[in-house]
Amino acid sequence: MNEIKIFSPATVANVSCGFDVLGFCLDTIGDEMVIRKINKKGIHITKIEGYDLPFEAENNVAGVSALAMLEDAQPDCGFEIEIYKNIKPGSGVGSSSASAVGSVFGMNELLGRPYNKTQLTNFAMKGEALASQCEHADNIAPAIFGGFTLVKSVAPLEVLQLPTPKDVFAVIIHPQIEIKTSESRAILPKQIALQDAITQWSNVGSLVHALHTNDYELLSRSLTDVVVEPHRSQLIPHFDSVKQTALDNGALGCGISGSGPSIFSLCYGNENAQKVAKAITNIYSETGIPFEVYVSEINTKGIKIL
Ligand code: HSE
Repeated sequence: MNEIKIFSPATVANVSCGFDVLGFCLDTIGDEMVIRKINKKGIHITKIEGYDLPFEAENNVAGVSALAMLEDAQPDCGFEIEIYKNIKPGSGVGSSSASAVGSVFGMNELLGRPYNKTQLTNFAMKGEALASQCEHADNIAPAIFGGFTLVKSVAPLEVLQLPTPKDVFAVIIHPQIEIKTSESRAILPKQIALQDAITQWSNVGSLVHALHTNDYELLSRSLTDVVVEPHRSQLIPHFDSVKQTALDNGALGCGISGSGPSIFSLCYGNENAQKVAKAITNIYSETGIPFEVYVSEINTKGIKIL
């Protein structure tokens, strides 16, 4: 096999309380990429459709993660990469991660799978770092492993795959503005109050327990963020009214997706997810800001070959 086409999914990082550690994988939104093994050594990005991104491998997140793998694998070949980008950069649903993951997943397949999922996550993190100026894997891990993941540590990298309750659906609203991850990280405080830390780690623990026990009510009470959301929500127009609308319509919880501007809600069942999507659509239509709304199952498989 010399060529592979893959679907690299969008993801939601943080999941309210788990800044930089929790994430889950979406089903309906994602990029497509073609990876081709060629004789000419190196990484060659030959096509980018959808958004205007750099072609030089060292300036492109897919290229940087591919170069990290190439340096380690030292194969007797090179790779061409075609990127068909559907996830808008700066949308908050793991656009850079999808690119970073796609190249290394495809190359690994073409090389006969020498690397496991954790090693792929490590390579992809190098690409992600180009976009956000720091290495974190809370979008990458769910894109590679599928479902809900917890990044226990990045150095050394340890990813835990968490159970996905089968009736959980996600609703995403993506206001069409761009928020750069590096900028939305820069506004966060360097220190937090002990009481906030206590609240936050209690919620992370109970959220993980809720996923293990299918306890939707506990899941709902755990989807709270007292550390990051109060700062970042100011960057997202009408965040509070979207959140209130989602909760009023029965969502289990609602928060900022990654570094925003997308907002996610988790819902019990598709019917509730559709109801929440409709209610959010109604209120956001009045703001004059262009937006898109998606309903998605939680994708328990992650990135896949097409
Ligand atoms: N955990 C990251 C953040 C995800 O919130 O900054 C976005 O890349």
